[in-house]
Amino acid sequence: MSEQAEYGGLPDKRQVAASFSRAAESYDAVAELQRSVGEQLLARLPASLQPQRWLDLGCGTGFFTRALAERYPSGEGVAVDIAEGMLRHARPQGGALHFIAGDAEALPLQGASVDLLFSSLALQWCGDFQRVLSEARRVLRPGGMMAFSSLCVGTLQELRDSWQAVDGFVHVNRFRRFEDYQQLCAGSEMQVLALQRRAETLHFADVRSLTRSLKDLGAHNLNPGRPGGLTGPARIRALIEAYETFRQPAGLPATYQVVYGVLGKPR
Ligand SMILES: C[S@@+](CC[C@H](N)C(=O)[O-])C[C@H]1O[C@@H](n2cnc3c(N)ncnc32)[C@H](O)[C@@H]1O
Repeated sequence: MSEQAEYGGLPDKRQVAASFSRAAESYDAVAELQRSVGEQLLARLPASLQPQRWLDLGCGTGFFTRALAERYPSGEGVAVDIAEGMLRHARPQGGALHFIAGDAEALPLQGASVDLLFSSLALQWCGDFQRVLSEARRVLRPGGMMAFSSLCVGTLQELRDSWQAVDGFVHVNRFRRFEDYQQLCAGSEMQVLALQRRAETLHFADVRSLTRSLKDLGAHNLNPGRPGGLTGPARIRALIEAYETFRQPAGLPATYQVVYGVLGKPR
């Protein structure tokens, strides 16, 4: 079975783009985990790396576009995102020379044109990760590097299990298995310099603040198979009751299984 078929049932890309476009104004205020993950990804870049041309793929509001510009003042930056609304938000804040609408699975860039491809928490939205890797390999110059963070199975497990207890529907985005990241990276014709998984847990006062923050991030459930229509008060009460069983002293936990990968294109 192909990776895409196995992973299947991913949201339509137009829906992903529309959802993130709508979230462009609210995203930064709730992107605590995204900040911390992106910082950890930056810290994984070798200190000796001095890219002439770098790409921030799935740049969102451009926080890491600007961080990369600061880190590589003599390099030229390109920022790509599938959501026009995110680009409209990021562009006036600068950092990259070009802000381009595009898809990680079909990059709007020439072959062998970048030295560093940086992508933080965007590639979990791509159904065909093999294609993402082959696009990365195509646009990287020999000796270039890809550094990405993404999410794998186990992410938002508490929310998934709670909904499961209520109605058995898929209310949480599907995620690729870590083993699939391992296998696909190993077969990418790039050298896997590092590939790790780390759990990060956020805590929320209640279920409403968790679902509100997912919506503000643009990352709420877009899976086909999600139940349509409104969520009635009885179901919400049942969800709250189920989620309460996970409560910890710090609040309701929301676990993210974060994948960090660094790959090098052979010279
Ligand atoms: C969670 S945000 C992360 C933004 C930014 N990298 C950060 O760390 O703050 C995910 C971004 O990936 C973008 N995205 C989703 N699917 C994409 C695709 N196939 N190609 C390019 N960008 C995509 C979304 O539009 C969104 O802006």
